[in-house]
Amino acid sequence: MRERLPAPAPAEGASGQRDEAAPAAAGDLPPSATGTRRSPYLASRLQGLGTTIFAEMSALAAATGSVNLGQGFPDTDGPEAVSEAAVRAIREGRNQYPPGGGEPELRRAVAEHRMRFYGQSFDPGTEVLVTAGATEAVTASILALCETGDEVVLLEPFYDSYPAAVALAGARPRLVPFRPPRWQLDLDALGDAVNPRTRVVVVNSPHNPTGRVLDRTELSAIAELCVRHDLLAITDEVYEHLVHEGQHLPLASFPGMAERTLTISSAGKTFSFTGWKVGWACGPAPLVAAVRTVAQYLTYVNAAPFQPAVAAGLGLPGSFFAGVAASLRERRDRLCSGLEAEGFALVPPQAGYFVLAGLPGWAEAGEPGRPGGSGDAARFCRELPGRVGVVAIPASAFCERRADLAGFVRFAFCKRPEVLDLALERLAGLRAPLAAPGPTSPMAPSGSGPSTPGLAS
Ligand SMILES: Cc1ncc(COP(=O)(O)O)c(C=O)c1O
Repeated sequence: MRERLPAPAPAEGASGQRDEAAPAAAGDLPPSATGTRRSPYLASRLQGLGTTIFAEMSALAAATGSVNLGQGFPDTDGPEAVSEAAVRAIREGRNQYPPGGGEPELRRAVAEHRMRFYGQSFDPGTEVLVTAGATEAVTASILALCETGDEVVLLEPFYDSYPAAVALAGARPRLVPFRPPRWQLDLDALGDAVNPRTRVVVVNSPHNPTGRVLDRTELSAIAELCVRHDLLAITDEVYEHLVHEGQHLPLASFPGMAERTLTISSAGKTFSFTGWKVGWACGPAPLVAAVRTVAQYLTYVNAAPFQPAVAAGLGLPGSFFAGVAASLRERRDRLCSGLEAEGFALVPPQAGYFVLAGLPGWAEAGEPGRPGGSGDAARFCRELPGRVGVVAIPASAFCERRADLAGFVRFAFCKRPEVLDLALERLAGLRAPLAAPGPTSPMAPSGSGPSTPGLAS
């Protein structure tokens, strides 16, 4: 594998400020979510990072009594066998710091799970690390592997923690687009993104927010590029079990990739316990050791009683994993057909629990002050809670600058069917107000939006 390059000088200007700092349509989102204001105490390499839009929009959902189809968390609990295992672990006193790399039974369970589902072999002693969710695993990996000024290839739209982790590392993102409407990866752009500064490619499949499951052709292209240029890969596979169409193929199983890939996943999405924040990174021992070095100074350890519970979950029969996907698929179809009936343009996602939907014509045109066909999803999302009590996220929150995605909105469907129905009912009521706008208060004070007790989270 490639030797480390000597630390290069940062590629930024004298201020050190990243030139990609402001997301597209920044002026249309809550200012703290866009990070467009300079924060007086924040280090220059982190300028542009604000409160994540998910926290902001969930707070807005709670304040306005809105149906929250913004942040990706289920509104029902996961399997009782798993939650009961956590309760038992607490009662048995497993409440102190677990071992540094994670509880041995969880590391064993992760290794067994990777073997059972993908035929991948990891030594639980040296090749599996337990982390505070996939988020910490990704961040610690980027921090561990990148020198200041290195470049990291990200697929755009991206999960918002990736560019933040790149900024924390003093590295620079290089973006490779997924192209609407079918969200195929632009393989020409992928080839163009790599240069002598490139250190890591971050691959998220199944993908948030497009719902794509990268296919064999796309993954082979990534693998070949990594091998040819001696790059490392970090894969985020948190939606590995939420596949509705196609098959999830781990990048590490492609030729030449096992020795250069950190495979990351977590319990949050699979078991519907997103608040437990139990994740893991698997890979060759030297790569995992590098990540462990960073993770031990970020959190050291986490979630002691939840670790044995997640180990129990990973051992559940195949019917459990198939059932999670099947239940979500029904809700995907419910939301997607409802959105299409309202005129949203979409391709049903192959995986995950989000759909990216293009604004209907009626939302784009006809409102005073709004140019017809502008596809201003950021504004649409900002107005939604105050108008009809629904929260969704504009695709621009997952991009740096993508004019072609400015008219797309992300809706989450990991909610109870009646919650999805209510959201659709409310969206249907939107056409009339948009045609003849009334008072709009996107940042409506608490209680001013439609009241939906119990549906705010
Ligand atoms: C692609 C992706 N990676 C990671 C995460 C977060 O995972 P965790 O909660 O395990 O940190 C999310 C959550 O939405 C996600 O969509």
